[in-house]
Amino acid sequence: MNEQLPEIEQLGLQAADCQLCTLAARRTQVVWGDGPATARVVFVGEAPGRKEDEGGRPFIGAAGHLLDELLEAAHITRADVYITNIVKCRPPGNRDPLDEEIVACRAYLNRQLQLLHPKVIVTLGRFATHLILQTTEGISRLQGRVFERHGYKVLPLYHPAAAIYDLMKKEPLFAAAPILDELVNGAESASDTRSPVPTQQETTAPAGVGRDAPGVPPAPAEPPQPQFTQETLDIWNA
Ligand code: URA
Repeated sequence: MNEQLPEIEQLGLQAADCQLCTLAARRTQVVWGDGPATARVVFVGEAPGRKEDEGGRPFIGAAGHLLDELLEAAHITRADVYITNIVKCRPPGNRDPLDEEIVACRAYLNRQLQLLHPKVIVTLGRFATHLILQTTEGISRLQGRVFERHGYKVLPLYHPAAAIYDLMKKEPLFAAAPILDELVNGAESASDTRSPVPTQQETTAPAGVGRDAPGVPPAPAEPPQPQFTQETLDIWNA
């Protein structure tokens, strides 16, 4: 273990041998995440595709190119954001991730978010949105609206892969670029006064979103190993 590396990267090295679900058998490699440990914005996608499985980085295929365009429209550079997925290994044939795969991988995302403690979380597509906001509300009703969860701003967007050929999604996706720009670069973000530990706060959640949140448990004293505790799991499931 390289002690010089940020903790999030150390955890990524541990996860490289992950066997927590059956996706391990067919992956080329775990696609952990990409970006600086100091990123204030985290993009959370679904799962790696073929290019990502080969290249080891998220969003480097066609969907990634559209994501790059969106970032540019929002005056954000990729080097400043952290990008990851709810599932870190490629599902065969790019099928949707299964519940058991999402559950198995969940603690990795929890810990990544805990370590990054971003200001803004952008969820790409319904799987990431449903997981982070703990809702089953349709993505078309959530896309482009800002929610607050545990003190973080959450912006659900259509998945870029879904928007590539569907103008009905591409248009609203890019229409959300100014919202993203404001969240990340706006005046409020310049005077970022967040407390170091996330507070439970839900201001704009729609019906069914996070209504049952009992509060955020304190961060575990020890960084968890790949067998995560229920406490870590509960942080974002709350
Ligand atoms: N789609 C995703 O959800 N994630 C990737 O990394 C690539 C495509």
